Amino acid sequence: MTDAEASNPLFSPYQLGEIVLPNRVIMAPMTRWRSGPGFVPLASTVEYYAQRASAGLIITEGSPISEQGRGYPDAPGIYTRDQIKGWKAVTDAVHQKDGRIFIQIWHVGRISYVARLHDLPPPVAPSAIPAPNQQMKIGGQMVRPAEPRALELTEIPGIVDDFRRAAAHALEAGFDGVELHGANGYLLDAFAKTGMNARTDAYGGSIANRSRLMLEVTEAVATEVGRMRTGIRIAPVNPTNDSSTDDAQELFEYIAAKLNDLQIAYLHVVEGTSMGDRNTPPFDYSRLRSLFKGTYIGSNGYDPELARHAIETGNADLISFARSFVANPDLVERFKRGLPLAKLDPETLLGGSDAGYSDYPTLT
Ligand SMILES: Cc1cc2nc3c(=O)[nH]c(=O)nc-3n(C[C@H](O)[C@H](O)[C@H](O)COP(=O)(O)O)c2cc1C
Repeated sequence: MTDAEASNPLFSPYQLGEIVLPNRVIMAPMTRWRSGPGFVPLASTVEYYAQRASAGLIITEGSPISEQGRGYPDAPGIYTRDQIKGWKAVTDAVHQKDGRIFIQIWHVGRISYVARLHDLPPPVAPSAIPAPNQQMKIGGQMVRPAEPRALELTEIPGIVDDFRRAAAHALEAGFDGVELHGANGYLLDAFAKTGMNARTDAYGGSIANRSRLMLEVTEAVATEVGRMRTGIRIAPVNPTNDSSTDDAQELFEYIAAKLNDLQIAYLHVVEGTSMGDRNTPPFDYSRLRSLFKGTYIGSNGYDPELARHAIETGNADLISFARSFVANPDLVERFKRGLPLAKLDPETLLGGSDAGYSDYPTLT
């Protein structure tokens, strides 16, 4: 290691629970819409993640916890035996290359395109409030998420159990841990925020009520797999998927304090607008940092300089990078050596073959 590398905290090791990360450059979760029959990870998925094993930690794409929790085409799930087997090949390959890998477990809530495309039962959400501004290009046509229905109170324990079971499956599949997808307008985020939750029962209204599902799921997963194998991703102000709330600062300070009580491994925070301005809408992330004493992963729009600054100033312990990992499997090495980054091909980002997936070359 050169002196410049040695003095940069981005390349210094970090103890995350029981595992040691060799650096602080984390691969952020990214759905890639690629899987085989039965939504089983592909051989190219094995290759794709193994190629990125030098990341301090890989966090996989969101993986649906149940058939009901699916929303996007071909996202590989973690609810059938074949899917567990498929993921086991991924974790084995990453571990063989001395990597570390958590899986992001996901219930899309009201953001289901597949329900619309395949005429499935309506997706479930805290309330029957659609996401009016969403659409995606799928198979050449623009598709809107299906209209959701509100979950019955009696169905909620089943959701908690689906998350818990998916987490158990994740350990069986050899993952080092689990990240709950609590961000970006999907089910857990939707329950927490006023713009998507109009319930009047124990899961709606007050901050404590709206946060209840996220906290119940976190506790169930942490109990299942161990607190130090459990992390969660949140996005306090990100408007993706028409996510909104009247009280982001107060709400997420409450959530951070409660997550701290649960003593989970990490809080992964999408800062600002995802893939947009990191400072808009305004939010004081340092408050979360002081309320949650575990590991803080900063995310969204980071480059190596910004990442270094965040770690040096104590604003974050680890930094996740999403888009730059797509076309740069050896991102850590490129950052270390100051090498240029390859640009991703937007046409092959979501869905398709191995092109733009497992065929980006390493330089190093
Ligand atoms: C193709 C693509 C897929 C994504 N899928 C997920 C996902 O499955 N789960 C998630 O939490 N975020 C997902 N994101 C958001 C990224 O994790 C990240 O927050 C965003 O790209 C901003 O980070 P960046 O500036 O480092 O790219 C996705 C982003 C992209 C570009």
